[in-house]
Amino acid sequence: MINAVERKIEQYISELGEGDVTALYKSLPHGKRLRTKLILKIAGSSLKVIKTASTIEMIHAASLLHDDVIDDADVRRGKVSLNVSKGNKTAIMMGDILYSKAFYELNSISSEVAKVISNAVVQLSLGELADVKLSLKFHTNRDLYLKMLYQKTASLMEATAEAGAILAGKNRKAYQKYGRNLGLAFQMIDDILDITEDSKTLGKPALHDFEEGKVTLPYIYLYDSLAIEDREFLVSLHRKRLSADEALWIKSAMKKHTIIEKAYSEAKLLIDEAIELMESLGEKDLSNIAKAMIERAF
Ligand code: FPP
Ligand code: MG
Repeated sequence: MINAVERKIEQYISELGEGDVTALYKSLPHGKRLRTKLILKIAGSSLKVIKTASTIEMIHAASLLHDDVIDDADVRRGKVSLNVSKGNKTAIMMGDILYSKAFYELNSISSEVAKVISNAVVQLSLGELADVKLSLKFHTNRDLYLKMLYQKTASLMEATAEAGAILAGKNRKAYQKYGRNLGLAFQMIDDILDITEDSKTLGKPALHDFEEGKVTLPYIYLYDSLAIEDREFLVSLHRKRLSADEALWIKSAMKKHTIIEKAYSEAKLLIDEAIELMESLGEKDLSNIAKAMIERAF
């Protein structure tokens, strides 16, 4: 059924009647289609669900095109990013096209679903703005970081699950919570993988978050665990191109203070809650999606 979503997105794009745009879309690498898997498991594969999944994937793709411009990223999903291969202007406009076509289509699916998704995109944008601000200066504000994480990543996952519940006539609140926990844990694991995995596995440069200015949870916890001189050293590495020795210093300090385990157990708590919730509703497949997410880290 994921194929039906791919075909629907292609149909939406080809309806625009611009060969260049069709070619640009085809050149973009697909992700794991996690949001599609989620909504199909919650709501089945009616045409409305396929259409909703397609619009959500288009919005997600648009947000990543813009994010790569904002982050000045070179690589996305193992490929040269569009902002580099075709330039920022093309990447921004391609994002705008995907985003606005998705909203055009969303309007004819269900106004309730459209409301939920558009609210998530407002959150997404607020989250990205907060991310930019938080990346300028070293900070150790866990609450602000988690709020940003919710807005930037979890809000669209939450809205996807809620939209699925609306379309399937299920309990909105329960699925919303499941999506939120999944989204938060997903980003927390992403933050961990940036530290533990190599560039080849990640499809983007490793240990890059801190260089970009992103003080993710493991860095906040590491700072809290370090002695004063080491804290100063850590702060001096923020937003800096790391040498091999500096990268090694960060990794060893994370290891010494068992930071990855601490961050991982925080993500696991959210996943366990999501699993419990879905098991109580008899949603075995959805609890398995949550299990697979936490296993992705190791
Ligand atoms: C990736 O974060 C970014 C997001 C999940 C959201 C980006 C949102 C916007 C740019 C708002 C605009 C929205 C639309 C629909 C046009 P990251 O940089 O931490 O992750 P990465 O390592 O995958 O780049
Ligand atoms: Mg980015």
